[in-house]
Amino acid sequence: MTIKSREVRLVARPSGLPAHSDFRIEELAVPDPGPGQVLVRNDWMSVDPAMRGRMRDVPSYVPPFRLGEPMEGGAVGTVVESHADDLAVGDQVLHRLGWRDYAVLDGEHTLRVDTRKAPASAYLGVLGMPGLTAYVGLKEIAGVREGDVVFISGAAGAVGLVAARVARHLGAATVIGSAGGPEKAGRLVREFGYDRAIDYKAGPISRALRDAAPEGIDVYFDNVGGDHLQAALSSLRIGGRVALCGAISQYNAEKPTPGPTNLLQAVRMRLTLRGFIVMDHADRRDEWVDLASGWLEDGSLTSTQTVVEGLEHSVDALLGLLGGANVGKMLVRLNPDAT
Ligand SMILES: NC(=O)c1ccc[n+]([C@@H]2O[C@H](COP(=O)([O-])OP(=O)(O)OC[C@H]3O[C@@H](n4cnc5c(N)ncnc54)[C@H](OP(=O)(O)O)[C@@H]3O)[C@@H](O)[C@H]2O)c1
Repeated sequence: MTIKSREVRLVARPSGLPAHSDFRIEELAVPDPGPGQVLVRNDWMSVDPAMRGRMRDVPSYVPPFRLGEPMEGGAVGTVVESHADDLAVGDQVLHRLGWRDYAVLDGEHTLRVDTRKAPASAYLGVLGMPGLTAYVGLKEIAGVREGDVVFISGAAGAVGLVAARVARHLGAATVIGSAGGPEKAGRLVREFGYDRAIDYKAGPISRALRDAAPEGIDVYFDNVGGDHLQAALSSLRIGGRVALCGAISQYNAEKPTPGPTNLLQAVRMRLTLRGFIVMDHADRRDEWVDLASGWLEDGSLTSTQTVVEGLEHSVDALLGLLGGANVGKMLVRLNPDAT
């Protein structure tokens, strides 16, 4: 029996905010898996800010999406046919061929996930790439220590929510987060373990950060860039550390955006600013999964997701992510039966 699969293709490179017309869904017959390959029914897929970067035709740490070709990204699914020695029908695997209902790929390009630790979808969020990003960024890059005052931007997102819990585990005395809108900001403190929250849409972030941390901050975990980085530079104490994780405020910019005008603070205050890419730290994955699944079990970490239903709404999910529609990890449920 021929299996049909839909896939989402990029058909135009967006200028500014992507539009639905930049994408097209096509339906094709799924090829038979060859030797060493598996056929996977995708259950969940991830949408990530980095996908916006891959729509630009510029060299980066991952190649750009090719026009007219299906997009790629993290997905978890169930093996429905296997020609790979170590994978069986029914196994749940993590892989890079999201944006489609079914994927045919080499078994060695998948990673079996342990659903006794957490549901498979958690391996796209808290136990997956975003969780590892928060862990590596705070532990290795910023070196959070006992007593630190830590400021996290993009605080209500996939990386941000985990970062607050990691900061606490590393001994942070105060964890401050910024997010867009009063509702999200309120939830940061009520539900997600932050001590103080800033609604960056309510006024200048620099003043709000000074009010939230009158004595200054020791660590800034930067998901946003722009005005947030500028504000953090002005609030960092001597020897402060910045983990440069992302700059989502600039991802849809049509022209180069000006850098912070107060970089001299780094000299005055002996600051360290260090960028990182999580894929360089893939060897820490097992350590993170073990640690985080323990924290999930004892309740000191939670898996928070925003779910959009169906591949036909995957572009809505991406646009929603860029516009702040998510709390925690933004996911698309591709298989209506997936739990
Ligand atoms: N370095 C790495 O290896 C690595 C790995 C993963 C992720 N990242 C980066 O980490 C950051 C967070 O990623 P994520 O996957 O956790 O996404 P996310 O935070 O779950 O989702 C993106 C969030 O960005 C916020 N946002 C959108 N436009 C904004 C703007 N102009 N100013 C401030 N906030 C804005 C929105 O929240 P609000 O409602 O609060 O605006 C939105 O919910 C991104 O910058 C991403 O590129 C880096």
